[in-house]
Amino acid sequence: MQKTLGELKASKAVLNLIGNTSIIKLGNIVPASAAEVWLKFEAGNPTGSYKDRMAMSILQRAIERNELAPGDTVVEYTGGSTGSSLAFVSAAFGLKFIAVFSDAFSQSKQQTMEAFGSEVIVEKSHGKGITPELIKRMKDRASDLCENLDAYYADQFGSPDATLGYEAMGQEIAKALDCKLDIFCASVGTGGAIMGARQGLIKAGATAAKVVAFEPAQSPFLTTGKGGAHKVEGVGVGFEPPFLDRTVLSDIRTIDQDLGFAMCRRLAREEGIFCGASTGLNVAGAIDLAKEMDAGQRVVTLACDSGLKYLGSHIYT
Ligand SMILES: Cc1ncc(COP(=O)(O)O)c(C=O)c1O
Repeated sequence: MQKTLGELKASKAVLNLIGNTSIIKLGNIVPASAAEVWLKFEAGNPTGSYKDRMAMSILQRAIERNELAPGDTVVEYTGGSTGSSLAFVSAAFGLKFIAVFSDAFSQSKQQTMEAFGSEVIVEKSHGKGITPELIKRMKDRASDLCENLDAYYADQFGSPDATLGYEAMGQEIAKALDCKLDIFCASVGTGGAIMGARQGLIKAGATAAKVVAFEPAQSPFLTTGKGGAHKVEGVGVGFEPPFLDRTVLSDIRTIDQDLGFAMCRRLAREEGIFCGASTGLNVAGAIDLAKEMDAGQRVVTLACDSGLKYLGSHIYT
């Protein structure tokens, strides 16, 4: 007999490890005259990424609506972070997961998905990096698979359940900082994390915080309308991020990806914080903002994922 969601979740206690991550004040790399910079350490999630929150939200809500049941197949095109999270949550719920991935992204992410028993289809990037053309090709492949296999499309770029999954992140930040923060900032892929967290901040009473978005200078779609090839996995998708509401943003800034990569290395060596490329971009942008603000004010950004996912990549080698 089919299990209820409550029964399914009760037997899947590993899913309770998602969320309730720590928030860390940077102690060494922020000038004393600048505002405080706080980092929500999402590497603390089971697959080392905030995407666990989103995968849980999408799959749990689909099960609740009876659109998915154990044994069913889930499909998504992914740079591997969302894929790792969907692979993890699918394994816990007894779902099959097929990822459309590319060799433009970290191989360790492919290995993670496979470790959770998922099937990974690799679209070739031909050494050109993450390009709008590649993303479109991955998307088309995922659509074909869904049609042919009658699978459930997780739809990280369209499902309202994605942003809902991030609300708790904002609520946790507001609670940890007593609602005292001046700017919340983050780089944007789908826009789900920044928008969902903002909603959570507001729900928890942190209504005064301004929201600033970042993108890699190498793919300045948000600021110029034209994307480009870059190496910051997960962000700078080269089209309008589906969840991003530009009207609530105070600013959109481009950050050079090389400054972000260098920031990853500084964070590891000078703060003991081991993180991925988008976090480097976030912190580089957050420190720039902090320098323009007064001492005692607060900037909060996200450590999206763990550096462990990038060990073989150009960032740490
Ligand atoms: C490592 C990493 N950082 C940042 C992001 C951006 O998050 P969002 O899509 O919620 O804007 C992603 C999304 O895939 C990601 O994988």
